[in-house]
Amino acid sequence: MLLQSVGPQFKERRQKLMKSHPTAGFILPSAEEVLRNPDVPFPFRQESNFFYLSGFEEPESCLVLAPEGNSFKTILFVRKRDQEREMWDGERYGIDGALKVFGADEAYLISELDQRLPGILKNCEKVYYRMGLNESQDRRMLSALETWRRSQGRSGTGLAPILDPSSAIGEMRLFKRPEEAQIMRKAGHYSAMAHLEAMKQTRPGMNEFEVEALIDYQFRKQGCQRVGYGSIVAGGRNSTCLHYRSNNEVLKDGDLLLIDAGGELDYYTADITRTFPVGKKFTDAQAKAYDLVLKSQKEAIAMTQPGVRMTDIHRRVCEILIEGCLSLGLLKGNAEEILRSNEYQRFYPHRTSHWLGMDVHDLGLYQLNGEPRRLEAGMVFTIEPGFYVQPTDKDAPAAFRNIGIRIEDDILVTDNGCEVLTKDVPKDREEIERIRAAAY
Ligand code: GLY
Ligand code: MN
Ligand code: MN
Repeated sequence: MLLQSVGPQFKERRQKLMKSHPTAGFILPSAEEVLRNPDVPFPFRQESNFFYLSGFEEPESCLVLAPEGNSFKTILFVRKRDQEREMWDGERYGIDGALKVFGADEAYLISELDQRLPGILKNCEKVYYRMGLNESQDRRMLSALETWRRSQGRSGTGLAPILDPSSAIGEMRLFKRPEEAQIMRKAGHYSAMAHLEAMKQTRPGMNEFEVEALIDYQFRKQGCQRVGYGSIVAGGRNSTCLHYRSNNEVLKDGDLLLIDAGGELDYYTADITRTFPVGKKFTDAQAKAYDLVLKSQKEAIAMTQPGVRMTDIHRRVCEILIEGCLSLGLLKGNAEEILRSNEYQRFYPHRTSHWLGMDVHDLGLYQLNGEPRRLEAGMVFTIEPGFYVQPTDKDAPAAFRNIGIRIEDDILVTDNGCEVLTKDVPKDREEIERIRAAAY
């Protein structure tokens, strides 16, 4: 179904970007359609920066922003309308749609991009184009950009630079406007409901992929268009594999199930992890490890407010996990020394947080002027401490081996604290055990 119009937010974003980069050109190609089988592509999802600034969801297109007078112009390069192709693959907007629906000042066929670029960019002092994602596209762009640079060189200003647009657009994407936060709140709630359903319906004997399908169905049923990243549904020892992808083993009573999954709603994703028993109750060792991870996560959330740094949060999580591992007899020695030497990474090898938004590991700088940056209202990030004892860790007591636990929520920084966007899925151990017992 084709849209009649898109919201004003896309134009507002272009205006903001060009106001802070008045002499720059931006070239933002769409995502590329990749074939999975002859004639059959993988599901298409638009490139995030391109969508953020255009709202346009077709492949084989390109957005160009270029200075003009005291302002700038928006140019969309799109596919040709083609009755035959549209009968097979669906309707296209074409040049008319690019102008009328998406508010481009000019629109051309994508086949004219290389030839038109040098002229469009003639007033630019620099150009932002992300190199290295697509070799054949880079070759074509570089040749057009080289023509443009030579013409600039002759004007006496020297060869103009080609820069990566990720930081400029990433800094805008890092701060969520109220309407973006509202979409993320919904994505968080829908994803929480999907996790809760998995917590109720999982039974020993089910396959990990059955639980994956169940979550996926819940995402879609509520309105998410797709998952924000490949779901991790990891039972038993698989829970100790940080980016487990196979999701194809049968779940066993006595094991834990770690689910890391988030639905994507209107191009914003949630990122939730919960860990619960495949049976009704945590074992003693599982319960101890779970309570430790939960304690660190709750404390991390409690300290979140503007001015705090992600590095402070990570450090506090590490301190709590180290204290816990010392008292459980999993580590020996001095807590500070264990922190300094990174010895704790045997059980906690990843960091606590990342930015979240249109991409699960979202754009946005983690440092400013060489210093870890401080949180500000409008930023969204995850808090996801974990504890993992590898099956091969013969130095750990047998009861702890194969335990993988991660608890992950999505956090919006507010003016005086934070809002947990994914609060609707339980994480207290007693509550999880109640849900598991009631479900049987
Ligand atoms: N699901 C990826 C992550 O939690 O970072
Ligand atoms: Mn995450
Ligand atoms: Mn995750």
